[in-house]
Amino acid sequence: MFTCCVVLCAGLIRKVWIKWNESPVIVSFAETSTPVWQIPYPAVTVCFETKAMQTRFNFTEYYHLYYNESTLANLTEEEKHLFEDISLVCDDHLSPPGGRKISNGNETVNNIRVTSPNITDVFFGCKWKDAPRDSCTDLFSPILTEEGQCYTFNTLGASEMFRTENLHQEYGYLEHENSADNWTLEDGYPPMTPLETYPHRGSGYGVKTGLTFLLKAKETDLDYLCKGPVQGFKILLHNPAELPRLSQQYFRSPLSQEVVVAVKPKMMTTSEGLRPYDPTRRQCYFPTERYLRYFKVYTQANCEMECLTNFTNVRCGCVQFGMPHGPNMSVCNAGNRDCMKQAQVELVTVEILSGLDPHTSHNDTLGDARAVAAECRCLPACTSIEYEAETSQADYDWKAIYRAYKLPIEDDIDEKRSSSRPAARSSMVRRTSSPTAAVYWGCSWASPS
Ligand SMILES: *[C@@H]1O[C@H](CO)[C@@H](O)[C@H](O)[C@H]1NC(C)=O
Ligand SMILES: *[C@@H]1O[C@H](CO)[C@@H](O)[C@H](O)[C@H]1NC(C)=O
Ligand SMILES: *[C@@H]1O[C@H](CO)[C@@H](O)[C@H](O)[C@H]1NC(C)=O
Ligand SMILES: *[C@@H]1O[C@H](CO)[C@@H](O)[C@H](O)[C@H]1NC(C)=O
Ligand SMILES: *[C@@H]1O[C@H](CO)[C@@H](O)[C@H](O)[C@H]1NC(C)=O
Ligand SMILES: *[C@@H]1O[C@H](CO)[C@@H](O)[C@H](O)[C@H]1NC(C)=O
Ligand SMILES: *[C@@H]1O[C@H](CO)[C@@H](O)[C@H](O)[C@H]1NC(C)=O
Ligand SMILES: *[C@@H]1O[C@H](CO)[C@@H](O)[C@H](O)[C@H]1NC(C)=O
Ligand SMILES: *[C@@H]1O[C@H](CO)[C@@H](O)[C@H](O)[C@H]1NC(C)=O
Repeated sequence: MFTCCVVLCAGLIRKVWIKWNESPVIVSFAETSTPVWQIPYPAVTVCFETKAMQTRFNFTEYYHLYYNESTLANLTEEEKHLFEDISLVCDDHLSPPGGRKISNGNETVNNIRVTSPNITDVFFGCKWKDAPRDSCTDLFSPILTEEGQCYTFNTLGASEMFRTENLHQEYGYLEHENSADNWTLEDGYPPMTPLETYPHRGSGYGVKTGLTFLLKAKETDLDYLCKGPVQGFKILLHNPAELPRLSQQYFRSPLSQEVVVAVKPKMMTTSEGLRPYDPTRRQCYFPTERYLRYFKVYTQANCEMECLTNFTNVRCGCVQFGMPHGPNMSVCNAGNRDCMKQAQVELVTVEILSGLDPHTSHNDTLGDARAVAAECRCLPACTSIEYEAETSQADYDWKAIYRAYKLPIEDDIDEKRSSSRPAARSSMVRRTSSPTAAVYWGCSWASPS
């Protein structure tokens, strides 16, 4: 009997051991709900699809001048540079492959900023928690992304987002400096934090407790060549400690439409018991375990951004202007657009390629690039917040409401000659007070006895 028991137990223990060895972590729902005010309100980043206002720089006109042999000769050096710089934020096929390969980052970013719509051109009005603001400048501030100049709400300031000592000094990415000293990604808000703080916290449930904004665009400023026939705005909700990548993820807010967004935060926390484990076994990094060169806060998206920067630099000898980079890296221009695009694809496939034929593709830069890619290992952070957005939309007939109020619509049009003002209105809704929160649990030895 005793021998049988020992053998049986040994068999069961072996099974449990194998299971633990293969996957020491289980994910389960937290047993207590987290109130919504302990989680920051999502950061909202808005990009206008018209990158250069036609009244400031007529991209369509310059496109035809640039791509015509006889008129190209008559363009001045500045005009050519301006066109090449603006083409960086347009669709890739518009960038002239014969353009400059590398440019002065300060000059390129300046050109993009000067021609892009400023905050008063884009925003008509803003409301935060149902209280109208005189101007949107205290809620939104400019941010430089891969998509050019965009506007962001609730994102951390530059000194809290970046390791500024490692960054180049040519130009900045974030302009506001709201101090976020009362919030960290892993610990959240300390108990004595006032209700109104930065980053803004979630509060209550419903349309009125969120952010509402009205965007505008003048018909004369729309450019149909740069970004193609889809006009309107790109919007992304993200973690305040994360630099948004609007070229990858976004939802659209078309012209003359109202978009309502319901947000459901998804928070992952990890039990302290998992700290002694190896990061690859628990599949996440605690904040002190991973150092990013350009970002202060470790999140998966920031790590991927930095990894792409390192990879692009090795592959092309320069990086996209929207990628935070060090003083030793230069900024790519139109001539390197194809290389940057290829690097983005290669980064994803480099592991497969190196597995397939490690000998045949003997290209020096590819070898170096592989080493850079292997160094990335961008696992998720052990505490992460994501926001799931659910949108609905309807027509927004701004002309009808002008007529209904008997507003002098004629005057308005006279003033801004043929400036029909299609507006997209977005309002945000925080959903339910108990967001789904999941917790990683440590393994517990269940001894079958
Ligand atoms: C821009 O150039 C195009 C083509 O030359 C022209 O049709 C359009 O009216 C111009 N836009 C402005 C605002 O001047
Ligand atoms: C190039 O520009 C010249 C002068 O404006 C014009 O006559 C010619 O038709 C253009 N060529 C093309 C291919 O558009
Ligand atoms: C280019 O400039 C020269 C002199 O300024 C002028 O004679 C010529 O017509 C221009 N060419 C075009 C295509 O505009
Ligand atoms: C935006 O540009 C307009 C001119 O188009 C200017 O009057 C306004 O002051 C600018 N606003 C800001 C915030 O720079
Ligand atoms: C960037 O360029 C602007 C003008 O184009 C100049 O005022 C500024 O000093 C330059 N900044 C750096 C860091 O070169
Ligand atoms: C942080 O909290 C302290 C009180 O604990 C408060 O005085 C301070 O204004 C808060 N800072 C911000 C930026 O909200
Ligand atoms: C940057 O370049 C300088 C000189 O070109 C060199 O001394 C320095 O080590 C480089 N820094 C890095 C981080 O590569
Ligand atoms: C290595 O790859 C780069 C970029 O794809 C290419 O331009 C270069 O010609 C390649 N070199 C060799 C020796 O194949
Ligand atoms: C990018 O390169 C820098 C310097 O070479 C390095 O410190 C950093 O860890 C790299 N980032 C990633 C995500 O691999």
